[in-house]
Amino acid sequence: MDTISTYSDRDLHDYIVTSLLERKLLEQNICNQKEDSSDISLGIHSFRYQTKCGLLIDNWKVVSTPKFLFEIANNGNLSSPQTYLYRSQYLVELCSVKNYNPILYNAYRDIFPPRTKNEQSRYIKQGHEASNNISYWYADLVEYLPGVLPTGELFRSTGHWNSEHQIEIFETLIGKVCIIIAGYTPKGEPYLFKQICSPGHLCLIPPGAWHLTYVLDGPALVFNIYTEPSATDIEVRRWQTKKYEWRPPVEVSLIVDDEHQTNDPQMLLSKEAKQEWKNEYLKSVHSFQKLLPKTTSLPTMFLFSHSNDLKCLEEEIIQHWQLETY
Ligand SMILES: [Fe+2]
Repeated sequence: MDTISTYSDRDLHDYIVTSLLERKLLEQNICNQKEDSSDISLGIHSFRYQTKCGLLIDNWKVVSTPKFLFEIANNGNLSSPQTYLYRSQYLVELCSVKNYNPILYNAYRDIFPPRTKNEQSRYIKQGHEASNNISYWYADLVEYLPGVLPTGELFRSTGHWNSEHQIEIFETLIGKVCIIIAGYTPKGEPYLFKQICSPGHLCLIPPGAWHLTYVLDGPALVFNIYTEPSATDIEVRRWQTKKYEWRPPVEVSLIVDDEHQTNDPQMLLSKEAKQEWKNEYLKSVHSFQKLLPKTTSLPTMFLFSHSNDLKCLEEEIIQHWQLETY
C-alpha cells in the first residue's frame, strides 16, 4: 500500500523517473550539462533546467510538447474559436506565407504522476492509467518562451475556461508571467483582472474561471496543480454533461508598445469584450488569493502534503467562493 510513510524523497524520485520512462518522456541528454544549468526546486532533488535544453533529471532530458503559434492562431480563426488571438487572421497568413511559426511554449504535462485524493492509495500504481471513476490532483510544468508577436501581443498560452468546481494553482519558478483571469462570481457578476507573478508567487484561479498566461520575462517556468471535479458530486456530474459545450474565449490580449516595454503591459479588449467585462478589476476576487498557503512551495505541497490537507484546501476554496459575497 502506498502511504505517506513509504514515500521518502528517494522513493518519490525513483517513482517519478520510472513513470516518465514508462511514458517514453525521458531521452538521452546531449546538452552540455555544465552550461547555464540551474537547479530548480520541484520538491525533489535532481531536477535542473537549462535555457537551451529545457528540463533535465539525472542524466536525462525530459521530453516536452511544443505549442506552435499556428495551432493557436488557426484555432482563433475559426467561426466558433476556442481561442482568441489578437489579429489571428493576419498571423495565420504570416504562418502560411512566410513560414513564421514560433514555438510559444513547451508543456510537460503530468510532470508528476497524478495523485488520488485518497490517502490509502495516494499515487496511482505503476503502469496504471488514471481512472475516470476516481478524482485526482494533477501537476504540469510549462516553459513559456519569451517573445512578441508581430501584432504586438506577447508570447502566451492558449487560454481556456476551467470547469465550475475545478481548483487550479500556479507557481512561477523562473522568469515572470502575467496571468489574466476572468469569469463570473457566484452572483453572476463578470470580473477580469491580471496578476503579475515572479518566482515564488502563487496564483489561484477561482472556480470556473477563464485564464491565460503571458510571458513578461522569459523563458519562464511555471508549475501548476489542478483538480478534476469529483465524479461523486451530483452537481458536478450535472455540470459534466454540459462539459463540452462551447464557451466563447474572453477577447482580451496583452499588448506591448513599440519599445516592447513589458513592465506594464496593457490589456486590450475587443469591442464586444468591453461590453461584457466592464468590471475590469474586482478587488474582492483578487483577495481570494489569501486562501493559499504561504509557507510551502507548490511542488512540495503536491508531492508531500497529506491528502486531507489538500482536501481541506479544496473544500475551503470552493466554500469560500460560493459563500462569500463578492
Ligand atoms: Fe486551467
